[in-house]
This record gives sequence, C-alpha cells and structure tokens, in this order.
Amino acid sequence: MNGLFISFEGIDGAGKSTHIEALAQAFREQGRTVTLTREPGGTPLAEKLRTLVLNDAMDPMTEALLVFAARRDHLQQLIEPALARGEVVVCDRFTDATFAYQGGGRGFDLNVLSILEQWVQGVKGQGPDFIRQPDLTLWFDLAPEIAAQRLSGARVPDKFEAQPVEFFRRVADAYGQRMKDHPARFACIPADLSREAVWQAVLGSLQTRGWLP
Ligand code: TYD
Repeated sequence: MNGLFISFEGIDGAGKSTHIEALAQAFREQGRTVTLTREPGGTPLAEKLRTLVLNDAMDPMTEALLVFAARRDHLQQLIEPALARGEVVVCDRFTDATFAYQGGGRGFDLNVLSILEQWVQGVKGQGPDFIRQPDLTLWFDLAPEIAAQRLSGARVPDKFEAQPVEFFRRVADAYGQRMKDHPARFACIPADLSREAVWQAVLGSLQTRGWLP
C-alpha cells in the first residue's frame, strides 16, 4: 500500500477536530494503519516548540522559523517514516497554516516562507525539486465572524485564538490563495453546514479520489 498524507486546515473555530477523528476511524475500518498527528507538534521536540509558539510573544520571523523547525523534526521523526511504511498520516494543520497565519495573519514575507518550505520539506533521494506536501488538504472554509462566535466562551484562548476578527480575515484569504496556487491537492469544505453535512463533504472528497469506498 502507498502511504497517504492528508492535512486539515482552517481558521480557529472552523470545526476540524471531530472530523479528523472520524476520518482516522474510517481508514482504520478499511484495515489501514493511521498515524494521527498535528502541527506545530507531533514529536517531543516539536511539541515543546508548539508550547512556545502558542504562548510566547515573538516577532513574525522567529515564529516562522520555529514552526518550520518543528515541521522539520516532525517530518524526519514521524511523517516520512510512517509514509514509507505505507500508513495513512492524518495531520491537523501543515505548511498551509504557516502561509495563512505567519504569511497572511502576521504579514511575513511569503517568498521567504516558500524558501523555507523548499528546504524543510525536501526529501533525501527524491531530487532537489521535490517538496513533501499532503496528497489532500481539507480546507474548512468558514467566515471569520462565525468562527469567532463559535470560539467565544469555549475555552481560554491561546495567542492566536485571542486575535481580532481582521487577523482571521487575512488568514482565511491566505488559505484561499493557497488553494488557488495548489488546486489539485485542495478540497474546500463548506464548514458552516451541519456537522453531518460537513462529514459528508469530507468523505466525498476522499471517495472521489478513490481513497475511501
Ligand atoms: P490548533 O491546530 O487550532 O489546535 P487547538 O485546537 O489545540 O487550538 O492550534 C494551532 C495554532 O497554531 C492555530 O492557531 C494556528 C497556529 N499555527 C500557526 O500559526 N502556524 C503554523 O504553521 C501552524 C501549523 C499552526
């Protein structure tokens, strides 16, 4: 079996969590081994970096370098080995989140992010132009105003969740741009629908690719 790499994306409050679990379960029911992971994080070192990124104030370049440092460790230690074993890797956020949050939200230079992406997501033996990307990115598309309503009162907000709605407008726009730049691997999930309808959209995007029955 070939490895399969699936990422979930969207602004905070878009409602990915329950569907991530459900998708992992759907693959397990097909007899696949699933590695369920997240970014920033997924390894002991990357989880330490996550704590810093989500809680400490820092300039946008520092933030970008830390999320890419975490990503490098995550790829080396967890993602690449799992894909090589033919597993399904389901990841709560990946590089598109960096383009959306650090690029769109913080306004950090997208060209520098592209260079870091090329460095960090290169794979030994795959040639200089190869960049590891998800095979499918499920983008939970939700208006920032609705996401803010969903988040309010839910829990103590982290550094990003505490940002104003304009920040998330820029993040959402940057996700939209990423989808335009990478149309083949993106599926847009209308996240304002009922939970069941959202799940059907998630499932449908896997079924059209022949990855789930
Ligand atoms: P999130 O994935 O929403 O997890 P939780 O449900 O525990 O809040 O939180 C991760 C946060 O990190 C989210 O606000 C987006 C942010 N982030 C970045 O700013 N850059 C990145 O590259 C990644 C992967 C996440």
